[in-house]
Amino acid sequence: MTIPTVNIIEACRKAADKMANKDTPLILNEWYVAAFKSEIGRNLFARKILNKRVVMYRTLEGQAVALEDRCAHRSFPLSKSHLDGNNIICGYHGFKYNSSGDLVEIPSQKQCPHGIGIQTYKLVETGPLVWIWLGDQQLADESKIPQLPWLESEQWASTSGYFFHPGNYVSMHENLMDLTHLTFLHANTIGTPDYASAPYKTELKEGHYKLIREVVPTTLSPVWGETTGLAGKETAARIATSEFLSPGLHQVSVSFYDSALDENTRQTFKIHTAHILTPQTNNTMHYFIVHGRDFALDDEHIEAFMHEQLFAAFQEDVEGLGALEEVLDDRDQYHFEISVASDSPAVATRIYLKKRAEQEQV
Ligand code: FES
Ligand SMILES: [Fe+2]
Repeated sequence: MTIPTVNIIEACRKAADKMANKDTPLILNEWYVAAFKSEIGRNLFARKILNKRVVMYRTLEGQAVALEDRCAHRSFPLSKSHLDGNNIICGYHGFKYNSSGDLVEIPSQKQCPHGIGIQTYKLVETGPLVWIWLGDQQLADESKIPQLPWLESEQWASTSGYFFHPGNYVSMHENLMDLTHLTFLHANTIGTPDYASAPYKTELKEGHYKLIREVVPTTLSPVWGETTGLAGKETAARIATSEFLSPGLHQVSVSFYDSALDENTRQTFKIHTAHILTPQTNNTMHYFIVHGRDFALDDEHIEAFMHEQLFAAFQEDVEGLGALEEVLDDRDQYHFEISVASDSPAVATRIYLKKRAEQEQV
């Protein structure tokens, strides 16, 4: 067995120093998805995001609001309290807060001091998603929310799901950026043997990184073959783009077609998958997924089959990266990792995440 020389190990460590990892501070001044729209209603809904406890609900008028999940009196979680109209009444000693976070009533005294309350956070709903800004509220700019027009298009159908992921969000971004792992981690679900060695190209623009892989010709795995009618064909094409859009969002877009047919007349089948990464802590993450397709829009059977197959594959990511996280926890002075050419967009992503985190620390 050959182990890398001291020089190589040192070079690897130097490179790794520039990249975000599980110990890098989380980026606060950014839009993240806090919940699916359907999760927020007239109940107090708690979720910890970026190490902050948040409680969310809808006012009687239907507006989604987010507040710090902590009573200003003795820190009782407001999510374990109850709603009275648009107000929350703390479940411990009854302090009452309005939906702007202002303390408006104290049961044990007539006077309620003005100007005291709890933090509120800006929420914006787009399509099925609710975005939150947990950093400096003055910097929350709605125009910076990543756009995914297909989520609201009638030309697209989608299915969605959620995983609580026992790993950090940096590793998940890296996982999504280089789908070489499809051949191995997903050998029994969405991967094919030829995927890892297929040609690829990269696009590296500050804050927007892409890896485009062209697997042509190939044979499609059942989830794509059986749903597009290309099953069993050895001339299928699979053109996949992995795209980092923000610290909280990665999109995978794939086109499938029969490469033996004339390009002007053949049908192309497209899918998009929004991989929505919302750190809970440095070691855990909320993993929301929306998977869209531009074909078989009303076919419930295809939708159910795709959902089952794809979410089985995403479960493999969650389990695989959960296992990886345990190894990262054990890393010591002998730890090093080497990168290869196909890692370049993932490395660029990690360098960008670290830079963003460091800018906030300043
Ligand atoms: S902790 Fe909420 S009222 Fe006392
Ligand atoms: Fe995966």
